Amino acid sequence: MARLFAAGGKRIRPALVLLAARCGVYELPRLMPAAMAVELTHAATLVHDDVIDNSPTRRGSPTIAAEFGDEPAIVIGDFYFAKAYEQAARTGVPEVVDILARAVMAICAGEVRQQAIRHRYSTGVEEYMGRIEAKTATLLAACCDIGALLGNLPREQRTALEAYGRELGLAFQIADDVLDYTATEDEVGKPIGHDLTEGFATLPLMLSRIELEDGKRLDAKESRNVATAVRDSDGPRLALEEARKHADAARLHLQSIGASSASDYLDSLADYVVSRKL
Ligand code: IPE
Ligand code: IPE
Ligand code: MG
Ligand code: MG
Repeated sequence: MARLFAAGGKRIRPALVLLAARCGVYELPRLMPAAMAVELTHAATLVHDDVIDNSPTRRGSPTIAAEFGDEPAIVIGDFYFAKAYEQAARTGVPEVVDILARAVMAICAGEVRQQAIRHRYSTGVEEYMGRIEAKTATLLAACCDIGALLGNLPREQRTALEAYGRELGLAFQIADDVLDYTATEDEVGKPIGHDLTEGFATLPLMLSRIELEDGKRLDAKESRNVATAVRDSDGPRLALEEARKHADAARLHLQSIGASSASDYLDSLADYVVSRKL
């Protein structure tokens, strides 16, 4: 179980907790369990997501599901969720547990929604945005909200940081979906073209104007061909433009937060999520 953490990961979510709190009162002993709680939650969703997505690799190593099977992966994911709430409770602030619980419920709703439209390529951008908000942006928003709460920020600034996290999360997931077409497995440590293989239409495909028949399951060769066509189309570039708009919107929400090194870092993070190669 420790291997997933040893393999690294970008640790964006705990960074958001710490940086949001640093916009106010920064007391590390109070923040540490909250930062651990969000990363554990994220790890739990990844372990389960790799079961759902039949994914062979994560962070450059075989996934728990690929190596040990779905059954242990489900239990290990559950363990991480429980461990996350244990840490959240250690903050001594019940609202932290509440925020985290509501974020996880939204993630589950997002994943269910995604499964419901598997192999339905004709779903539109609006559906996609709702789906990625639920499955990804809500947790990034929750991280900022938790940090702002523990940093004793006034209500208005807390709301602004939460809104920043939400926009950052949308940009982040669009960029992830672009990388699924444009990166290499060595760069991202997980399979490329996998969304298509699993029947998930994401923004780069939607904006490529390539039409796939609903219900069609692509075999390995077909999905490689479609992935190449998408990569060579305008889809990835247009999707990244959309991601940049959300990163800009995220940055705008920082304006009501006083100037500090923490808010500068949050500002840079908005650039990073759309320029990252990992
Ligand atoms: C992967 O998250 C899942 C998505 C929401 C796209 P990250 O890209 O933050 O994964 P790690 O933690 O860095 O491996
Ligand atoms: C993120 O979506 C799913 C979660 C919210 C855990 P993806 O399925 O695109 O994530 P990766 O690409 O497997 O990391
Ligand atoms: Mg996945
Ligand atoms: Mg992905």
